[in-house]
Amino acid sequence: MQDPLKQSFLKDINDISSIQELVNLKAKYIGKKGIITEKIKNLGRLTPEERRSQGKILNELKGFIEETIKNKEEELKQKEISEILKKEFIDITLPGKDFYFGGSHPVNKTLLEIIDIFRELGFTVEEGPEVELDYYNFEALNIPKDHPARDMQDTFYVSEDVVLRTHTSPVQVRVMENKKPPLRFISPGKVYRCDSDVSHTPMFHQVEGLMVDEDVSFSHLKGVLVYFLRRLFGDIPVRFRPSFFPFTEPSTEIDIGCIICGGNGCRVCKGTGWLEVLGAGMVHPNVFKFAGYPEGRYTGFAFGMGVERLTMLKYGIDDIRLFFENDIRFLRQF
Ligand code: DAH
Repeated sequence: MQDPLKQSFLKDINDISSIQELVNLKAKYIGKKGIITEKIKNLGRLTPEERRSQGKILNELKGFIEETIKNKEEELKQKEISEILKKEFIDITLPGKDFYFGGSHPVNKTLLEIIDIFRELGFTVEEGPEVELDYYNFEALNIPKDHPARDMQDTFYVSEDVVLRTHTSPVQVRVMENKKPPLRFISPGKVYRCDSDVSHTPMFHQVEGLMVDEDVSFSHLKGVLVYFLRRLFGDIPVRFRPSFFPFTEPSTEIDIGCIICGGNGCRVCKGTGWLEVLGAGMVHPNVFKFAGYPEGRYTGFAFGMGVERLTMLKYGIDDIRLFFENDIRFLRQF
């Protein structure tokens, strides 16, 4: 008599595919008003003998149903979990999405390197304005209005007395006006010239340097600048050529052995084996006079360099305009 019930239960549970259906099935058979529950309640109406045998059968069936439902529930849960796992599968062996860190501009990298080297030598860093008085850019550097040296630099004039500074040298006088020797500083910054080709841009960077005290000599100049160049470029040959700048006397231009061809002669060094990298000299007495220093008391050396040019030599770049085009493919190489 109980067998058909067991069979109908087994058929029902076979069709089930969700936890919710299973809950309903459980209610149908062994819930408060379930078929089995009702039958157990009705046992009281039977004779004691029937009650005992029927009771045993019903209890066993109830136990069986509970057990089967529990197993089914476990099975359904496992199925659910494995479906979620399948759906949410992440292949950790796939390559990740690429991203790039920003980085310093190559010109800035060289600039920071230059500053580091001079800082170690005890030089401080000073700054001056980019929109500069004609007085500081030329006059106080011993370049009067009619001086031919003004033609060396294609100046952007803002007005008759105001220019975009054509070099960082005006910082020399500005600092000396405010500070007494001993002085030892460099002054990095932007400068402007009306010029544009593979080796010139209207804006570029220079680093100026000045060391002034009572007994500064040309050998200090040599010692500091040779040391600096070997720190920046490695163990290379350095030579000093006589030159002219209105604000130094004597003046020199400093070359390093060509780092592209090793001194054999190439396109970059124009076959000479040498590359010009610095202008320098002993500060002209007139510059001290413009700065308001007592005559004959101090001596000093000054130097100036172009940061783009040094960067081009360091990294073997042959067109200065690459620095300002902001082509990410170029910049990423540094
Ligand atoms: N101001 C020069 C220029 O722009 C570079 C320079 C040369 C600076 C000699 C100096 C120096 O301080 O002594 O070409």
